[in-house]
Amino acid sequence: MKVEAEFITSAAGAEGFPRDRLPEVAIIGRSNVGKSSLINAMVRRTLARTSAAAGKTRLANFYRVRVGSGQPLYMVDLPGYGYARGPEGDGAFTGLTRAYFDRPGHKAVLLLVDSRHPGLVADLNAWKWLRSQPFPSAIVGTKADKLKRVERVSHVREFESLFAVSVPLVSAKDGEGLDALWKLIARLPSPTAA
Ligand code: GTP
Ligand code: MG
Repeated sequence: MKVEAEFITSAAGAEGFPRDRLPEVAIIGRSNVGKSSLINAMVRRTLARTSAAAGKTRLANFYRVRVGSGQPLYMVDLPGYGYARGPEGDGAFTGLTRAYFDRPGHKAVLLLVDSRHPGLVADLNAWKWLRSQPFPSAIVGTKADKLKRVERVSHVREFESLFAVSVPLVSAKDGEGLDALWKLIARLPSPTAA
């Protein structure tokens, strides 16, 4: 499948968000969970900046993506929540992320969780919040290449019982699960206007 992708803009607040109203897939999750890396892996190019240190992405970054002959959409890379050195502490969205979700528009949301660590309170809170929102959403377990074989089964079960939805595993490092993730995105219900 051909994937076209380009960086469009970085926004520090509501005034910086694009105005052309393409459907959006927002990527949220803890700092360092692999949001920017997953975007790069999905578009097969290094567009988003990543870092071994948490708190790399500080702005909302918009990437315009087109898969095959599908409609273009934005993938939106947001700052991580739960960044220890951040001003709002664990589990809180920053003003920027709040502004992003407050803005009307068609968006779907992928919550990324580290597949090595089922049940983190910040992730459970984020999912609880997401379920209260009108956006179609899904959970994805990142860094699957770091799981031991026995953990693959036990962690997936644990995630599914905690979140009550299936949690597909992906790896930005070896490409596992990326085609399935594109399919999952295509199958999400038509993004709802907030
Ligand atoms: P913030 O921007 O700080 O919120 O972090 P982020 O969620 O965007 O994480 P980022 O993509 O910058 O990745 C954080 C670290 O995890 C980097 O060192 C990545 O190389 C590593 N990483 C990301 N995805 C994977 C993966 O699938 N496998 C492995 N082994 N490492 C990964
Ligand atoms: Mg990032």
